[in-house]
Amino acid sequence: MSSDTEGPATTPPVLSLRGIRKLFGGVVALADFSLDLHAGEIVALVGDNGAGKSTLVKIISGVYPPSAGQMLIDGQDTRFADPSQAQASGIQVVFQDLALAERQPVYMNLFLGREAVTGPWRRLDRRRMIRESEALIQGLDIRIPSARATIRELSGGQRQGVAIARATHFAAKLVLMDEPTAALGVAETMKVESIIRSLRERHLAVLLISHSLDQVFRLADRICVLRRGVQVDVRPTSRTSSNEIVAMITGVA
Ligand SMILES: Nc1ncnc2c1ncn2[C@@H]1O[C@H](COP(=O)(O)OP(=O)(O)O)[C@@H](O)[C@H]1O
Ligand SMILES: [Mg+2]
Repeated sequence: MSSDTEGPATTPPVLSLRGIRKLFGGVVALADFSLDLHAGEIVALVGDNGAGKSTLVKIISGVYPPSAGQMLIDGQDTRFADPSQAQASGIQVVFQDLALAERQPVYMNLFLGREAVTGPWRRLDRRRMIRESEALIQGLDIRIPSARATIRELSGGQRQGVAIARATHFAAKLVLMDEPTAALGVAETMKVESIIRSLRERHLAVLLISHSLDQVFRLADRICVLRRGVQVDVRPTSRTSSNEIVAMITGVA
């Protein structure tokens, strides 16, 4: 935990993006994106389909290298060769497509890449993973039949719950959420929103992609708007309105 003497003024941003650009062949998915994200802050990223939101998440999390630009983590120039390096730096992601192993049980998905092992032959410690998964699921209040259920057996909302549980449990620094409540009902959405607030209280940084402007205004400290790969603006939530954000998203003033 940081003391009250620390703050954004003395601590470098958790994430600093400078002039990030991404090309896919001739398509400019991101033109020139810059943002500082501080610990204990929720920044929403909004924009229409194809605006470049998921591309940005994949660049930050080491799925794609940027075509140009610089990324700093805690003030250090960083380049991730793959997603496991981003994870090792304390970054967790809820991908839009969730990135779950369909044929594997819930508990293996929760521990993907960090499986518990036991004994001299380092066999999978399934009992321990199941026990910890059950506690995790219960703690998050997401309704899943069993930690042993395979992902294929779950509804869209339950799958989203597993992806959120994994990201929020293992995040140490930064959580990226790409449409985390798209498949959820009203009560489940409220629960996830309270989880997102608890991440801020844990002093993590959150980048939230959402199509629900109501949700964005409920949660975010600042709102960043993308339109066709171009960063339109970043506004403190308290100093903008839904109408203004819609105008920036659509380009219709
Ligand atoms: N892997 C890829 N290969 C080629 N083009 C891509 C790829 N990923 C995204 N794009 C293109 O980049 C643009 C931004 O896409 P995306 O980041 O998915 O937008 P959003 O998440 O805001 O809907 C779109 O034009 C999309 O077609
Ligand atoms: Mg997307």
